[in-house]
Amino acid sequence: MKGIVLAGGSGSRLHPATLAVNKQLLPVYDKPMIYYPVSVLMQAGIDEILLISAPDYLANYVALFGDGASLGLKLSYAVQPRPEGLAQAFVIGRDFVGDDSVALVLGDNIFFGAGLEGMLARARARQSGATIFAYAVEDPERYGVVTLDGQGGALRIDEKPKAPQSPWAVTGLYFYDNRVLDIAAGIRPSPRGELEITDVNAAYLRAGELHVERMSRGYTWLDMGTHDSLLEAGEFVRTIQKRQGQLVAGLEEIAFRQGFIPLARLREQGAALARTDYGRKLLAIAADHA
Ligand code: DAU
Repeated sequence: MKGIVLAGGSGSRLHPATLAVNKQLLPVYDKPMIYYPVSVLMQAGIDEILLISAPDYLANYVALFGDGASLGLKLSYAVQPRPEGLAQAFVIGRDFVGDDSVALVLGDNIFFGAGLEGMLARARARQSGATIFAYAVEDPERYGVVTLDGQGGALRIDEKPKAPQSPWAVTGLYFYDNRVLDIAAGIRPSPRGELEITDVNAAYLRAGELHVERMSRGYTWLDMGTHDSLLEAGEFVRTIQKRQGQLVAGLEEIAFRQGFIPLARLREQGAALARTDYGRKLLAIAADHA
């Protein structure tokens, strides 16, 4: 399975903070925002990843991650010339995906919870169809919303409905079989001028192949679309890391645990960042496994 991280967009709701910087490079407590969605793909065991961003910013991601080898990843990059919708990721990424299945994660989403790896493994194991992850929120009208039947099956899916019939927001993480390439190529822009991921999911729903994983109260899902939600996300990460002494989205740690990099590489990476708490935590993990 391949992975795509979509990290473009105009970031206009975060101006002036994002006038000269791509939103997904802003720090969320101690690391760039992009670390969090990348960590989710890695926790799903995905090591071939395409990072898509806006033309002005792609070089920053290359400076940050290079070819991904230090994390045991095979990273490639592509430009999205204009923010014309999430589903465009599959038009841009068509050659990258090739004949494989693919997971898409949005560059401004954080997922956290003890059962996450198991949930990701379930979605990944599905041979056919699409899997979305739903999270109950107070303000579903801000998101894609899925209405569920008594068994947790999807009845309908709507993008930012004015009067939502369900609290279940569709989070920015999606697993698809290879058909997504043709489905995305066939949809038309919505009234807001975007190729909507919700239209892709609706096509799977019509085919009876949209699976919904509900993230229960044990999980945290945050998106960082506003100044307040960005600050709250930073506070959340800080609280967890200080209280539990563990990293959220420590990419080198995940790479090691997934078997993408050996112990020696984890130790090297920790040593390179040893002036920070982040680096010291990596070193402590390496010491535990020595
Ligand atoms: O966060 C989950 C929500 O993401 C879903 O519930 C919605 O169904 C989905 O449409 C999307 O909602 P938004 O309209 O709030 O997405 P936004 O425009 O904020 O973009 C999400 C991220 O994707 C953001 O980091 C910017 C990036 N992006 C967005 C677009 C439209 C791109 O890289 N390219 C794009 O063309």
